[in-house]
Amino acid sequence: MAPKPSKPVKPQIQSRSPAIQFDDVRLTLPSRAGPVSILRGVSLQIDEGEAVAVVGPSGSGKTTLLMVAAGLECATSGQISVAGEELDGLNEDALALLRARNIGIVFQSFHLVPSMTALENVSLPLEFLGNSAPYEHARQALKDVGLSHREDHFPAQLSGGEQQRVALARALAPGPKILMADEPTGNLDGQTGQQVMDLIFALRERTGATLMLITHDSELAARCGRILQMRDGKIVQPTAAKRAKVEA
Ligand SMILES: Nc1ncnc2c1ncn2[C@@H]1O[C@H](COP(=O)(O)OP(=O)(O)O)[C@@H](O)[C@H]1O
Ligand SMILES: [Mg+2]
Repeated sequence: MAPKPSKPVKPQIQSRSPAIQFDDVRLTLPSRAGPVSILRGVSLQIDEGEAVAVVGPSGSGKTTLLMVAAGLECATSGQISVAGEELDGLNEDALALLRARNIGIVFQSFHLVPSMTALENVSLPLEFLGNSAPYEHARQALKDVGLSHREDHFPAQLSGGEQQRVALARALAPGPKILMADEPTGNLDGQTGQQVMDLIFALRERTGATLMLITHDSELAARCGRILQMRDGKIVQPTAAKRAKVEA
């Protein structure tokens, strides 16, 4: 009897593709006192599924790094790719679509639309993407952050922690590959901030999303797999979180 053909061998180690890649990214903006260099040659790679904290002193360029990664601010030079797409050459519409499909963003100051209810805020990105049942999905996303009972509330009727949970639901409702958060607990008291962060980490775990977390909080940074330290528009110290001494 002829021997059975052996099964084709699948590669055991699948190399993960980068979720975010920067190659010598620079951003210089004009000012009255002359050009200001805000990002001064940033190269980094964040792999799919990684959780990376970005720390550094105020003014070191952390928020700008996020804005550039999200295509909300244009770099002056260098290459950026997000979810496998080069940002260079994409127009505003293409950037908006790339962002809507791939990136959820949570800001320090929530950025909810004040005239819309929690449910309407969360359904907004779903409607933009042409989701067939935006309200149904938004309802589920609000349930995931424990806010089903606040669907019809306006932002002003919600506490800071609740507003941030609505913002998190809005960020995650379209099922993005990447979650970016800029000091998401910066406007919250300690206990509320802790609850919001626990939720961010729990939902990230469940969805497998890549996390880019900007924070001043060294304990929070240590919960990420890796810490990128920024100073004066550059990354000065990429370290494994467990060994990192965070100088935020
Ligand atoms: N639109 C802008 N025009 C000029 N300077 C800016 C602009 N945005 C940010 N900056 C400057 O860039 C530097 C980095 O800012 P930012 O990214 O907000 O830092 P961080 O988030 O680390 O506090 C700061 O010195 C800030 O004043
Ligand atoms: Mg900032």
